[in-house]
Amino acid sequence: MAFYSEKVMEHFANPRNVGEIKDADGVGEVGNPVCGDMMTFYIKVKDDKLDDVKFKTFGCGAAIAVSSMVAEMAKGKTLDEAMLLTNAQVAEALGGLPPNKMHCSNLGADALHKAIENYKSKGK
Ligand code: FES
Repeated sequence: MAFYSEKVMEHFANPRNVGEIKDADGVGEVGNPVCGDMMTFYIKVKDDKLDDVKFKTFGCGAAIAVSSMVAEMAKGKTLDEAMLLTNAQVAEALGGLPPNKMHCSNLGADALHKAIENYKSKGK
């Protein structure tokens, strides 16, 4: 059975950047009403760059791997660069996802973008 790529399995087994940033500059939460999975991203911004990115994901293995990959890809990027990160790029970086798991990858970049929008809405 090869439903998941090695990269997905690896990020699922060893997710990076799990947790919450207590004094986060921005928080973004998205959920999928069908499966009930939820993802929250926390960001710390410094000099217009993502200084730190953490997440909490209540979801399936693919959602956890996606969160881990998004956090890793986003860290160190400028806010504008991070806004350009797409769900498709994340799925690709994970070596693809099974078709019935593509919706899981749709949560990742969306949650990150929401956290950035939340930061911007504070007018800092
Ligand atoms: Fe819904 Fe994975 S099954 S996010």
